Amino acid sequence: MVLKVDNIHAYYGVSHILHGVTIQIKRGEIVGLIGNNGVGKTTLLKSIMGLTRVRSGHINFQDQDLLHLPPFKISRLGISLIPENRDIFPDLTVYENLLLGMTNSRRKRKVIGDKIHDYFPILKARLNQKGGTLSGGEQQMLAIARGLVGEPELILVDEFSEGLQPLVIRNIVGILREVQKEGKTILMVEQDARLALHLSERIYIMEKGEISYHGLPEELLSNAKILKDHLAI
Ligand SMILES: Nc1ncnc2c1ncn2[C@@H]1O[C@H](COP(=O)(O)OP(=O)(O)OP(=O)(O)O)[C@@H](O)[C@H]1O
Ligand SMILES: [Mg+2]
Repeated sequence: MVLKVDNIHAYYGVSHILHGVTIQIKRGEIVGLIGNNGVGKTTLLKSIMGLTRVRSGHINFQDQDLLHLPPFKISRLGISLIPENRDIFPDLTVYENLLLGMTNSRRKRKVIGDKIHDYFPILKARLNQKGGTLSGGEQQMLAIARGLVGEPELILVDEFSEGLQPLVIRNIVGILREVQKEGKTILMVEQDARLALHLSERIYIMEKGEISYHGLPEELLSNAKILKDHLAI
């Protein structure tokens, strides 16, 4: 297992959000996490990244205990979060935004050059343009590129598809599959259950801060009742 989250309880201040969440991910898997608004999906990704208060349970990444490590150390161990609101710096150029993803590597210029060339030709032409002048789809590409340039082992992707055109979504799906082929592991939170089922090898469903279902996409596709029982759709 590359990631083991074992029975964690996470809080914002005194608000108790995750109530004993357990998930496990194998190296090279794409795993989907779906669930209604506000159930705690983003909180789980933030907890893995060290951005919430986890008061009990364990989080283990490549046999290292992540609990109580600061986010920058977790990032250096090889985990990156592509956040739901993208968090692009509008006044920095595309290139400068990408540099912020380079915590993990000394070969900055070359890695940025190669990755962008392979996966993000749209950004390559815009390296000196300010992040804030990009379209929504381009900003999401930039957020993903920034999450990948540091060459993480585990990529946490939070609702990348939100607000994007189908063509851009297909493009990003293609990139995520390529990244998986390189042997990387992806945990993907997605509002669009159909997209999550299409892209993932296993699915977790979260309800009210707990995992209420765990199974294969085929199982969910052939039994619509499961989705109905766990999601407001
Ligand atoms: N910084 C915060 N401080 C306090 N409460 C928060 C904070 N962030 C989120 N919450 C609360 O925690 C709960 C879970 O939020 P979270 O963002 O994890 O949900 P989500 O499943 O990602 O929802 P969505 O699908 O809308 O993105 C919600 O009740 C939310 O109001
Ligand atoms: Mg969320």
